[in-house]
Amino acid sequence: VIIVEHLINNSVKEIKISGIRQFFNKVAKYPDAISLSIGIPDFPTPTHVKDAGKQAIDQNFTTYTHNAGLLELRKAIESFVDTKYGLQYDPESEIIATVGASEAIDISFRTILDPGCEVILPAPVYPGYEPVIRMCGATPINVDTTKTGFKMTAELIEKHLTDRTRCIVLPYPSNPTGCTLDYSEMEEIANLLKDKEIFILSDEIYSELTYGKKHVSIASFEQLKAKTIVINGLSKSHAMTGWRIGFILAPAYLSKHLLKVHQYNVTCVSTITQHAAIEALTNGINDAEAMRDEYANRLDYTYERLVDMGFDVVKPNGAFYIFPSIKQFHLDSFEFATALLETEGLAVVPGNAFGSIGNSFIRISYAYSKLTLEEGLDRLERFITKIK
Ligand SMILES: Cc1ncc(COP(=O)(O)O)c(C=O)c1O
Repeated sequence: VIIVEHLINNSVKEIKISGIRQFFNKVAKYPDAISLSIGIPDFPTPTHVKDAGKQAIDQNFTTYTHNAGLLELRKAIESFVDTKYGLQYDPESEIIATVGASEAIDISFRTILDPGCEVILPAPVYPGYEPVIRMCGATPINVDTTKTGFKMTAELIEKHLTDRTRCIVLPYPSNPTGCTLDYSEMEEIANLLKDKEIFILSDEIYSELTYGKKHVSIASFEQLKAKTIVINGLSKSHAMTGWRIGFILAPAYLSKHLLKVHQYNVTCVSTITQHAAIEALTNGINDAEAMRDEYANRLDYTYERLVDMGFDVVKPNGAFYIFPSIKQFHLDSFEFATALLETEGLAVVPGNAFGSIGNSFIRISYAYSKLTLEEGLDRLERFITKIK
């Protein structure tokens, strides 16, 4: 038998399995551990949305659709993003339904990147971007945001712009930090970038989960809209992670290229899912509100507990993650999370899963019941009392 692993594409060979996955392989060995680690809403998909999916099957809506998705779905997306964020996109030429935000990220980078160009990212950052950037032969430029409350600023962007910069990723509200940018912070970035020949990839998958202030999309700045790709979807807003539904909003000159990559990649999103998504975006336009209120309560509880324990922690205002510093314990994040798992049976995600800049932090998800949160945070408190 001849093994020809060396012939596998080099950039694929170099991709490492995600730090989250590595840690989960460890967690699987502790069946009694409790977890505050997962980025999945702990609510079921709303019943009326599930029913729409069931009806789609019964009505034999089981064939391919238009590559960009059913026009009815694109119209539902148009109206949703206009009502919620004041964004106007043409459903015929500027909206594509994708297989989750994940596919949207993949086809966006593959459409806009060439080997040798650079992509600026605010680190610590969601680990789904870097491998795709590298597979395109481009270079991720991770900008340390730990001194600006995990916010990308116009000043930080300016420092890292080069003549190779092709794209800036703005993933707010952020996974793993839960931080968002407000209008004036976005405006400063918009003023800096308005004359630059550069793309902006705005991953807004947590846009329905903001606490306090309403979500602002960078594409609402008219000068930036023509070079911005907005990524969003229903995974988090409607608790639909397993349905695999996201979408892209981009100007027509860009969408027509994105659509080719999408078409040769997946043809279209599952038709059943598309019908469920129409229901979610129309009759379920406000479905996220009840979940958001619950997450907001859990955030307050989690934040207060962490502050009481003496953690140095930025209070997030979006998504369902909190990212306390563990610097005071003089352990790196993998050692800290491993010891916490082994001695107290609590799983959290080591911050270095989000890049080396995250190495003195842990990510706690509060997409869990109050009871689980309480028990988990009690375990964390016992652990740090021991190691202090
Ligand atoms: C920032 C961010 N973008 C994209 C995704 C992927 O979303 P989807 O499940 O819709 O592919 C996630 C999932 O956790 C995420 O946190």
